Amino acid sequence: MRFDVITIFPELFPGPLAQGVIGRALQRDLVRVHAHDLREHAEPPHWKVDDEPFGGGAGMVYTPKPLAGAIDAVKAEAALTGPVVFLTPQGERLTHAVAQELAYEEQITLVCGRYEGIDHRIREQMIDREISIGDYVLTGGELPAMVLIETVARLVPEALGDPDSARFDSFVDGLLDHPQYTRPAEFRDWVVPEVLRSGDHARVRAWRRREALRMTAQRRPDLLACLDLDSDEKAFVADCLRGQKSDREDDVPGVD
Ligand SMILES: C[S@@+](CC[C@H](N)C(=O)[O-])C[C@H]1O[C@@H](n2cnc3c(N)ncnc32)[C@H](O)[C@@H]1O
Repeated sequence: MRFDVITIFPELFPGPLAQGVIGRALQRDLVRVHAHDLREHAEPPHWKVDDEPFGGGAGMVYTPKPLAGAIDAVKAEAALTGPVVFLTPQGERLTHAVAQELAYEEQITLVCGRYEGIDHRIREQMIDREISIGDYVLTGGELPAMVLIETVARLVPEALGDPDSARFDSFVDGLLDHPQYTRPAEFRDWVVPEVLRSGDHARVRAWRRREALRMTAQRRPDLLACLDLDSDEKAFVADCLRGQKSDREDDVPGVD
């Protein structure tokens, strides 16, 4: 899978992506990250990529010409051209479901804004998708692009050493992950739940499912609406919610 990043700071890439799991995927050529300098598509001698906003106001805006040139150049260069994505706090939220959709693409172009953003005509005419990493504002799209690349690249088949580690992550089946423990079984006087040391795989599976339901009910009750729970699980979740705060039940559509 190939990511083409359009930025005024190409030297930031691959940055933290060169480490750990994604770093190994880059070394094995399972994932490629190409950073393109937006300024190369600006005019000499100043290589200016921004201008004041029409209508006045603070800040600068990326002008359309260098951006259009950079997007066209990526499309001409990349053999496979997938969606052009603009990172913006105004976009759809990056979720596991969005990452999974993007992981099917063979190539993605990521446009990183700065200042007040980019000329709206580029958004209307050349951007296929707008994605936000959360309801807060960063100074530029480079960190959001890295977050997106990391999130999507770890879903590329073979990127993770053990594919099971992604299969059971939070959000994959709509639940938060269950609590995790490792050795020693007793630390200070804090003891790992007995069931996890029992060797009884069916009991371990049942415990993990229950604890994932409990975590989700307590921390992210909004996720419960999308789950297909059996009647025992619904009763368990309702108990968790009652235990936490009795007036929360109305917030949980889909749980009787
Ligand atoms: C200072 S922000 C511009 C914010 C813009 N004026 C607004 O209110 O939507 C500069 C750039 O950072 C990036 N950015 C900032 N916050 C982001 C977020 N939450 N998700 C994705 N990109 C973001 C975008 O590329 C944006 O164009």
